Amino acid sequence: TFVVTDNCIRCKYTDCVEVCPVDCFYEGPNFLVINPDECIDCALCEPECPANAIFSEDEVPAGQEEFLAINEELSQVWPNITEKKDALPEHEKWDGVSGKLQYLER
Ligand code: SF4
Ligand code: F3S
Repeated sequence: TFVVTDNCIRCKYTDCVEVCPVDCFYEGPNFLVINPDECIDCALCEPECPANAIFSEDEVPAGQEEFLAINEELSQVWPNITEKKDALPEHEKWDGVSGKLQYLER
């Protein structure tokens, strides 16, 4: 499966959702997640993310392993998203800032 990680938080560009052939992205207030049971590992979304926040589960950066469980958990409760929308207003300010998990809104 593929996993959305830290740099999506407070950016949420949503380019990723447009390319997913199985529509397995789910949307929270300031972050998206992938449902690991639905993802077919096509890898199409990874290069689409302007924030480089999407990784194969085998390549999640060190220190971000907890995003595996976060994607699994929140994809069960958040609504599906299939169409691109505007990025969050302060995406330029937050893109590239590390340690944004503390700002995750559920
Ligand atoms: Fe969707 Fe493919 Fe990305 Fe999985 S790897 S979330 S199936 S676009
Ligand atoms: Fe997030 Fe990147 Fe998608 S910032 S919303 S994973 S395009």
